[in-house]
Amino acid sequence: MRRASTRLPGGLGVSLVAIVMAAVGCSEPEPGETADVLRTATAAPLYAWLQHGAAGLEARAIVNAGTPCPQVDVDGVASGMTERADAGAEFAVVSCTAPVSGSAGSISVGAQNLPAPSAAPQRILVLGDSGCRMTAGWYENCDGSGTGVPWSFIAAATAAAAERPDLIVHVGDYVYREAECDTTEQPGCAGSPWGDKWTTWEADFFAPSRPLLDVAPWIVTRGNHEDYGRNHLGWLRFLDGRALVPADLTDAGCPRFSAPYKVAFDEVDFLVLNTATDPNASGLDPSAQTRYTEDFSQAAGLVTAGRTAWTVTHRPFWGLAPDWQDPSSLGVADTTLQAAIAGMPGGAWPPDVEMALAGHIHLLETLSFRDGRPHQVVSGDAGTAQDAAITAEAIARNPQVFTQLGIAPDDFQSYHDFGYVLLEPATEGGWTVTVKDLAGDVLEQFQLR
Ligand SMILES: [Fe+2]
Repeated sequence: MRRASTRLPGGLGVSLVAIVMAAVGCSEPEPGETADVLRTATAAPLYAWLQHGAAGLEARAIVNAGTPCPQVDVDGVASGMTERADAGAEFAVVSCTAPVSGSAGSISVGAQNLPAPSAAPQRILVLGDSGCRMTAGWYENCDGSGTGVPWSFIAAATAAAAERPDLIVHVGDYVYREAECDTTEQPGCAGSPWGDKWTTWEADFFAPSRPLLDVAPWIVTRGNHEDYGRNHLGWLRFLDGRALVPADLTDAGCPRFSAPYKVAFDEVDFLVLNTATDPNASGLDPSAQTRYTEDFSQAAGLVTAGRTAWTVTHRPFWGLAPDWQDPSSLGVADTTLQAAIAGMPGGAWPPDVEMALAGHIHLLETLSFRDGRPHQVVSGDAGTAQDAAITAEAIARNPQVFTQLGIAPDDFQSYHDFGYVLLEPATEGGWTVTVKDLAGDVLEQFQLR
């Protein structure tokens, strides 16, 4: 990997030429070449955004293969971005990164301005499970020209951006285009890219996400669609909140699990957890359950007594999912994670963990507990093919799932609507949690104190 992290005082001119020369590995530009290089470094990248990762706030950017990473300008101080991943097979793009101060007031990457981060976010938007499903036997109407409900993530991203959030949490499952479109089943996905490659990532996530990338910094977590063997290469190249080492992109070195990390704001700490690996199919040693107990225990160790903490995972600790073949039958999610929690010191999350944010179930759900467990919020309905609605009849037919979860049916709410969740500080203290559909209508609202 190339590095170009020279930090120089503000202004362009000769300093920028030096940065760009370092980035492209050249010693001296030919006459006429300097202007081209300057144009490249200051041009808008394909995509750029801010994200909170394990090492703090970062600017990330994607540029075409053969193009040097752009410069980042933070409060008038210019520096080069570091190459996170060079172009490779099926990925004709370079991903770039640079650390950014959480107190920065003005940030640009090349010619693109990025939103200033907030140390005390006031409008936190949570969404997940956003890609257009293309898999054997199940093809969504990705471009809207086919049959059935059109893929909703473009509308979801537009509606979510209109909320003017100052922090966005994506709870995972960014890419669902995993098989070639069968146009006899669904003409609305004709010609779509598929598989773990740049063109798929752009179509399924980056292009429709642009309004949200432009509006606020992100926290991201890894979904099971980003697990090894699915779309792990794009996840590691572009989004993973940890540093990337070349071995990560090999079959042998691809990390299935990863240690949790904390993203701290003035009034709340996020504990970001990787629950991507399928507990039932990993076949790994140690078992997924054992590893998740280790990760959760480590995350619990990051909790500061007296400070509010929320977990961010893809799989919910507690939730209900209808059977896809028989929606009148409900199943409990996620029994492996529940067993992993039981193995933590004290068998539970610390009391300062007051909310658990997740997706994976393609509905909007909230679960409240009377025994001190954190409030569970499932925001997994940002665009991909929905799960069936959980009807009153299904609830009445499945009393065992509420016994298993240790809640009454009234402590569980679900919504069969595309939408998202908005978190705002309440005037009387604590936080207001609002579940919204894409029309902006409030489906549910409650206070966390
Ligand atoms: Fe999932």
